[in-house]
Amino acid sequence: MNEQSSGQAAPSVPSAAIAVDVPAKINPHLGVGNARADGYHALSTVYQSISLYDTVTVERADEPGIELTVAGEGADTLPTGDDNLAVRAAKLVAIYGGVEPDVRIHLNKRIPVAGGLAGGSADAAATLVACARLWEVAIGDAELHRLAAGLGSDVPFCLKGGTAVGSGRGEELTHVDSRGTWHWVVATTDTQISTPECFKEVDRLREEGIGRFSSDVDPIVRAFESQVGADELARLLVNDMEAAAVSLRPQLASLMHGGLEEGALAAHVSGSGPTVLFLVADVKHAVALARRLRMRGGARSVHIAHGPVSGPAA
Ligand code: C5P
Repeated sequence: MNEQSSGQAAPSVPSAAIAVDVPAKINPHLGVGNARADGYHALSTVYQSISLYDTVTVERADEPGIELTVAGEGADTLPTGDDNLAVRAAKLVAIYGGVEPDVRIHLNKRIPVAGGLAGGSADAAATLVACARLWEVAIGDAELHRLAAGLGSDVPFCLKGGTAVGSGRGEELTHVDSRGTWHWVVATTDTQISTPECFKEVDRLREEGIGRFSSDVDPIVRAFESQVGADELARLLVNDMEAAAVSLRPQLASLMHGGLEEGALAAHVSGSGPTVLFLVADVKHAVALARRLRMRGGARSVHIAHGPVSGPAA
């Protein structure tokens, strides 16, 4: 792994730590279809990476096994055993490569935990890449995608980053050539919503005739390709899970209204929530809105971010 500039064969050196920065994802368009026979819902979504990053560091341990430590906001709420997707990702690479795992994984969390920003999926994607490098396991793109999809529906996107259309249960990706940068204020809340809980609420509301499948991603894909202004993008944001998230946690509505009152161009629940994204015109507006939201209260933490950004980088 370590390249030498002398041109001579590199001596065998103990492997150093490998650090991978991996961004959060948002879904500017999240269309949710009916539940399929396997329990998953058909999705028609547009993913985009934004500039909130976790850093995943892996290094060889002296003892066999997988050890996980976590630091950062919400770190104490995360499991460090097999329930953590990063541990499962490391196991998958070890099994695939036929190696005995001997790794210390450290997650430095800056992506808000359990917020609908795919922090856990991002960590899993970064761990796949980092462990493959650490153990020198060659994994082709198709196989990496398969391993990622086995870990979760949005892990394949987290491997790629940028902007992409997601179909199937979210794991089938088509790259979008997005030209532009859009600015967001990201407001997390004290409440939590589990992803399955939110999908169930979508189903329940549909039975009552509330909501429908927004399957057409073309308008927003064209908008990203043609670098529209934020005011036009604001009109194109879609989230079929938003009504369900607000139905489960009505306090989200007041947070959303608060941001709109303070000048946001749009308020948009991130994925299955409960994080709320506010679209703003530029970074100056982002800084100003973030300050006003912090003063109002009602959000647990407020961040500014822009997108799209590239996927995991070592
Ligand atoms: O794929 P992932 O493990 O992230 O999904 C978590 C849960 O979210 C699933 O078990 C399922 O209940 C729900 N889900 C869904 N339809 C999708 C993706 C997830 O119903 N397309």
